[in-house]
Amino acid sequence: MTVVMDDIVARESRFVLQTYKRNPVTFVRGEGVRLYDANGREYIDLLSGIGVAALGHAHPGLARAIAEQSQTLIHTSNLFFHPLTGELAERLSTLSGLARAFFCNSGTEAVEACLKFARRYWHTKGAPRAEFVALDESFHGRTFGSLSVTSDEHYRAPFEPLLPTVRFVRTNDPAALAAAVTTSTAAIIAEPVIGEGGIRPLTPAFASAITEACAKTGALLIADEIQSGLGRTGHPFYFQALGLKPHLVAVGKALGGGVPIGAALFSQDVADTVSYGDHGSTYGGNLLACRAALCVLGELFDGGVAENVKRVGVSFERRLRALAAKHAMVKEVRGAGLMWGVELTRDAGAVVPAALEHGVVVNRTAERVVRLLPPLVITEADADEALNRLDAAFGAVGASA
Ligand SMILES: Cc1ncc(COP(=O)(O)O)c(C=O)c1O
Repeated sequence: MTVVMDDIVARESRFVLQTYKRNPVTFVRGEGVRLYDANGREYIDLLSGIGVAALGHAHPGLARAIAEQSQTLIHTSNLFFHPLTGELAERLSTLSGLARAFFCNSGTEAVEACLKFARRYWHTKGAPRAEFVALDESFHGRTFGSLSVTSDEHYRAPFEPLLPTVRFVRTNDPAALAAAVTTSTAAIIAEPVIGEGGIRPLTPAFASAITEACAKTGALLIADEIQSGLGRTGHPFYFQALGLKPHLVAVGKALGGGVPIGAALFSQDVADTVSYGDHGSTYGGNLLACRAALCVLGELFDGGVAENVKRVGVSFERRLRALAAKHAMVKEVRGAGLMWGVELTRDAGAVVPAALEHGVVVNRTAERVVRLLPPLVITEADADEALNRLDAAFGAVGASA
């Protein structure tokens, strides 16, 4: 098997554009919250492919839906109707309270659609506004618009100039936000729980400042719920927990459970400013992707998974806080539901291989944060076992410091 792993690595390093620094593990199979590598080793997945595999791996219902749809009809293009687009849009509208959906294939495309239609809104009104206000520590994706509202210099610098019309403000600083948002602001864009930037929920005071700034200046609000949405925090969307009323919402990741699909959701007043031909996507909302998404939403919100997040989330948080009390290198634990960040007093880089060594998959983000995004179907027993393994990994890293 080592030979196979070596072949895989050699071929990738020769032919694949080297944008990803991968961990030296090749997963070949999954079942529920468990992943298995090429050597047959078992791991508990506390990352879900970065918040995507909400139903875990090889979910029988999702597998059946994808298989059936692929044997019926996968793709016809947006030149024609098919029965699933409206059904999925209606489902998302009911969950979010927003009126309409545009379907695309990834998170960054959902954000692009939100940015474009925020500008479109002001253009249609005959009073164009170009500016966006975004947050420090934000991550919205890698295409030019999304990258322009992403704060991390490391991601931005090689590709500049980006959109020049973006102001960044300190996250959770109401005064800074109030000062930055003006009648030139087309939209504020914010992740209700900052994900990549270290799992930082917006505070209620900051959420109120957003609402006030929008009311005072007319600026629209874009909520990027790509990581925090669809039940992960114990709410369908975290903007609901904060009492925010976004005009545009970006959704992705978990929506297809691993089948690529994203969505931008619009309030009716923004949707009213859109015309035929304004935007489009060849794959966007095809039958296969919509079928997968309908299955995922059905499991999450009718099949008891959202309740599972609330239940397991409580014990998950308790266990994480116990870990923090035990290990001196843990500085803070932040999050909600099954979206957690464990901030260390040091770089979290060493935790990832140690965790893999102990049979648990986690990720490092924002340098010092261990990010935990388990499949939303995880049981209390599996979460306990996974956190025992993480505890042992923390112990190993702490001892080697
Ligand atoms: C909050 C947020 N927005 C946007 C994106 C970009 O999504 P994608 O990688 O599907 O383009 C991500 C991905 O990590 C994200 O977490």
